[in-house]
Amino acid sequence: MLDHTTDNLINQLLAAVGPAGLVTATADQAAYTTDWLGKWHGRVPVVVRPANTTETAAIVRICHATHTPIVTQGGNTGMSGGATPDSSGAQVIVSTTRMNQIRAVDAINNTLTVDAGVILARAQEAARDVQRFFPLSLGAEGSCTVGGNLATNAGGIAVLRYGNMRDLVLGLEVVLPDGRIWNGLRGLRKDNTGYDLRSLFVGSEGTLGIITGAVLKLFAQPSARTTAWVTAPSLEQLVTLLSVLRSRCGERLTAFEMMSQDSLDLVLKHVTETRAPTTGHSAFNALIELSDTEDSGLQEMLENELSNAMKDGLIDDAVMTSSQAQVAALWKLREGVSQAQVRAGAVVKHDVALPISALAAFAAQAGVAVLAATTAAGTTGRIINFGHLGDGNLHYNVLLPADLSSAAIHGHTLLINRVVHDLVLDFNGSISAEHGIGQLRREELRRYKSPLEMELMLRIKRAFDPNHIMNPGKLL
Ligand code: FAD
Ligand code: MLT
Ligand code: ZN
Repeated sequence: MLDHTTDNLINQLLAAVGPAGLVTATADQAAYTTDWLGKWHGRVPVVVRPANTTETAAIVRICHATHTPIVTQGGNTGMSGGATPDSSGAQVIVSTTRMNQIRAVDAINNTLTVDAGVILARAQEAARDVQRFFPLSLGAEGSCTVGGNLATNAGGIAVLRYGNMRDLVLGLEVVLPDGRIWNGLRGLRKDNTGYDLRSLFVGSEGTLGIITGAVLKLFAQPSARTTAWVTAPSLEQLVTLLSVLRSRCGERLTAFEMMSQDSLDLVLKHVTETRAPTTGHSAFNALIELSDTEDSGLQEMLENELSNAMKDGLIDDAVMTSSQAQVAALWKLREGVSQAQVRAGAVVKHDVALPISALAAFAAQAGVAVLAATTAAGTTGRIINFGHLGDGNLHYNVLLPADLSSAAIHGHTLLINRVVHDLVLDFNGSISAEHGIGQLRREELRRYKSPLEMELMLRIKRAFDPNHIMNPGKLL
């Protein structure tokens, strides 16, 4: 039963967006109030789905006047619970999924202007339509949105060549917490007219405003591509191979994704129609991709480098692909880890960044520390180490036994997080490389960010959102 105030709020929102823009039935709200991992669950009186920036601004003005907290949501694929409301029933979700227009494509300026709710795969397609390339690519690209990618500063599989989302955006349009619209939709490569406001909103996880539009950078289309799978005895050897390929292949190296053998085994067990690319049993695997705007002997180049790497004892085995089907099968293995982990049970997830030169030492020390901690706690943990090696980004996860109670899982998670993240700090790394803080790492942020950095971030938050209505309980 809705009380009078909630009823009044819904009526105002109804007047702003019409019946097509509101989801009020609890059953219909379920897809919005639970996250992709099924880890967080919230409750809202209403999900609002504006069709454009003007409607978004009207919604925010109503929420500003009524002090109603807003949780902005894109594709709801985030890994840190940033898009899930709390259980108070006082917050509303603003979903951007109806804002899905490609606004403009400028092949000469190499820019694409989109609504924030455009699905990432559609943005990639719009670039392809004008023989250009939008490089952000990740496992959730069929459902995550450009706005969500910006708000989380998403990374993915092409960062080592093209950078993360922060590097791929030139301009933004944002509805501010008081309902005013900031039009920063400039497609400029150079603009030295003061503080970089755009950069503040990238990675702000819905806490400073609602991103409604963006100007994205386009690149030349890589028409030639070659892909290989290698196995290696240690992470150290894979890091050396990465360094060799970077210096020998330069910008042609567009992906270097790592999976430990345990990660691969998990995918082979839980994801259908997958099979191991090689027969041996090495400790680590990597999926490597070179690409270029023209085929300047890419396959030969990679074959030569891998053959030398084999002679030098850096890798145990290598498989080159010769068809699109083989390439897709390899990527299915890499992109299947997220799904395999969900099916495997309780996984303590991490998303850490380290200097590439420190990756092997970190993993070796973390392995020892996690084993010691789990043994002392009377349990076991299987390390599921995979990630974007080329960016120094490990998903250094720990799979717990299947029969634990939720209280035990919670306790072990806190313990393992502490062990892994303290070590990350020792190596001068980061506790979130690409997934963001959300509600998952909010408490830990205070431990790992300096008091000065926390103070500066809180002052920025207060300056933009003095009423604290934008995604409270997340990030800060
Ligand atoms: P949501 O989940 O809806 O929201 C995420 C955060 O952004 C929330 O805090 C939300 O409030 C905020 N937000 C969303 N839209 C807006 C907006 N318009 N304005 C302001 N704030 C907004 N991430 C990576 O970085 N790299 C990967 O390789 C990767 N792989 C993945 C693979 C799978 C299978 C899955 C399920 C997820 C993966 N992710 C990865 C995580 C996720 O896809 C990204 O974080 C993505 O950028 C989230 O986009 P979204 O539209 O789903 O955002
Ligand atoms: C990935 O690299 O596959 C993702 O970031 C998703 C995950 O961590 O599960
Ligand atoms: Zn990742």
